Amino acid sequence: MPSTRAIEVLATAADLFHAAAEEFVRAARAAIGAQGRFTVALSGGSTPKALYSLLATNYAGFAWNRIFLFFGDERHVPPTDPESNYRMVNESLLTKIAIPAENVFRVPAENPDAAAAASEYEAQLRRFFELKSGELPRFDLILLGLGPDGHTASLFPDSPALNEESRLVVANWVAKFNAHRITFTFPVLNRAAEVMFLASGADKADMVRQVIEGKNTPPLPSQRVQPSDGKLLWMLDEAAAAKLTR
Ligand code: 6PG
Repeated sequence: MPSTRAIEVLATAADLFHAAAEEFVRAARAAIGAQGRFTVALSGGSTPKALYSLLATNYAGFAWNRIFLFFGDERHVPPTDPESNYRMVNESLLTKIAIPAENVFRVPAENPDAAAAASEYEAQLRRFFELKSGELPRFDLILLGLGPDGHTASLFPDSPALNEESRLVVANWVAKFNAHRITFTFPVLNRAAEVMFLASGADKADMVRQVIEGKNTPPLPSQRVQPSDGKLLWMLDEAAAAKLTR
């Protein structure tokens, strides 16, 4: 599958989340039709919450029993913590759809040992995708956000996980938070069939331009997301795309 990059700009945030929900369902239908299942890694932060809520309201009757949900990253907190990405997804989506509990793969971030939590989650991925040594999982879709410093998932500038080339999931020390984050690594992100970046609002416009059009040395973490044989899709609203050269 040749690598492609596409940028979709929607007039408003509401339009953006509707289009993102349609793209999620389009990719799900295609994967279920082709393989009988859809594997997707969700992003955290605040931006995708509206997408998850829309999927819950507009696609409640979808074939959720054929969908397998993972998390591209997680904060090192228990699932009940307000900072937990799992908690956000659970409240905005999982509690509102008929998805079997065994189809949801949560990061065991309550483990006080972040490295152990990352290893456990990697083991879950290896089991689920029946990976042989050295093999990478191929997600049908990975959702990503864009941080103000150009980070994505929990791959922050100048953080150790940027250099990881073999492990699938690592505990990444993020100095500015004085905490670990548990995150997929670039090899996993770049093996996906499709990666969807979702960015909304004027406060993202500078970084969106820098990531999509900028030449940064070293490249920003979000610039290193280049699926080797997959689709890279930027979904933006007008406010987030305002500084792009068009
Ligand atoms: C997280 C995310 C992170 C997020 C960006 C953007 O756990 O926080 O995975 O990568 O996508 O920080 O966050 P906002 O959507 O809140 O701007």
